[in-house]
Amino acid sequence: GGDDAGSGNSGGGGDDKITLGFSQVGAESGWRTANTKSIQESAASAGIDLKFSDAQGKQENQIKAIRSFITQRVDVIAFSPVVESGWSTVLKEAKDAGIPVILTDRAIDDPDTSLYKSFIGSDFVEEGKKAGEWLVKEYEGKSEPVNIVELQGTPGAAPANDRKSGFADVIKADTKFKVVASQTGQFTRTDGKAVMETFLKSQPKIDVLYAHNDDMGLGAIEAIEAAGKKPGTDIKIITVDAVKDGMTALSEGKINFIVECSPLLGPQLMDLVKKVNNGETIPQRVLTEETTFTPEQAKAALPDRKY
Ligand code: AHR
Repeated sequence: GGDDAGSGNSGGGGDDKITLGFSQVGAESGWRTANTKSIQESAASAGIDLKFSDAQGKQENQIKAIRSFITQRVDVIAFSPVVESGWSTVLKEAKDAGIPVILTDRAIDDPDTSLYKSFIGSDFVEEGKKAGEWLVKEYEGKSEPVNIVELQGTPGAAPANDRKSGFADVIKADTKFKVVASQTGQFTRTDGKAVMETFLKSQPKIDVLYAHNDDMGLGAIEAIEAAGKKPGTDIKIITVDAVKDGMTALSEGKINFIVECSPLLGPQLMDLVKKVNNGETIPQRVLTEETTFTPEQAKAALPDRKY
């Protein structure tokens, strides 16, 4: 706000509530559900009026939502971009309307960083690298080929692109690692299961599954068990997120390693929203702090896990 004189929205210093328009990706995963909850709860406790819109996985819906936020003259727009490309037109419209935009969770590939004030979220390339580094250690000193199947996230999404490339970058140092099949499982359990079924039918030898999120890994576990194999033993499994269901499977030894990706972005986002609405400069990049989990660490962390 601030330069929307007479609209009735809060400007800096006014005592009206700040209005935040937020466009969410959808409800594809446990991570996303926890992320939505974090945003809704922290908006409420920060006294921010949240206009929440669910894009159901479609970029066109996000573009529509952003345009409607502009028409409503919200004070700040935040969104988690479904895919990386194709945002310049609508973000220019927001900029021309003087409404600051904050990217949440996922980045865009537009080189014009003036289209948004800040990007808060994880380093997905780093997450892919951590997955790869665990694998390299796990097979240290062994020379037989290691056949890997990969379940990718939504095509074109930053976490799918980056988790794939970070992982590939690390494992390419040793030719024994071979990604024998790699396909999208859309970040969902259903697709993770279905695609794993086809992998199991088409691949004579699978040593490792790398899934870009817990949900796809959990779906794949069902497929592996249905095929009479033991997840975590016959096929080693690495996933990303560390939501409760993933951590439970990890503690049971059905998953071997999880790279954490925190969905709890709400409190920091509300902080940025307040600052940017006050006309303060905010950092262009706010990085989420994250760790990794082994089965033992999952057992220890589970009792206090909130999501
Ligand atoms: O953008 C974050 C990713 O989106 C999560 O890792 C995945 O579970 C979600 O769907």
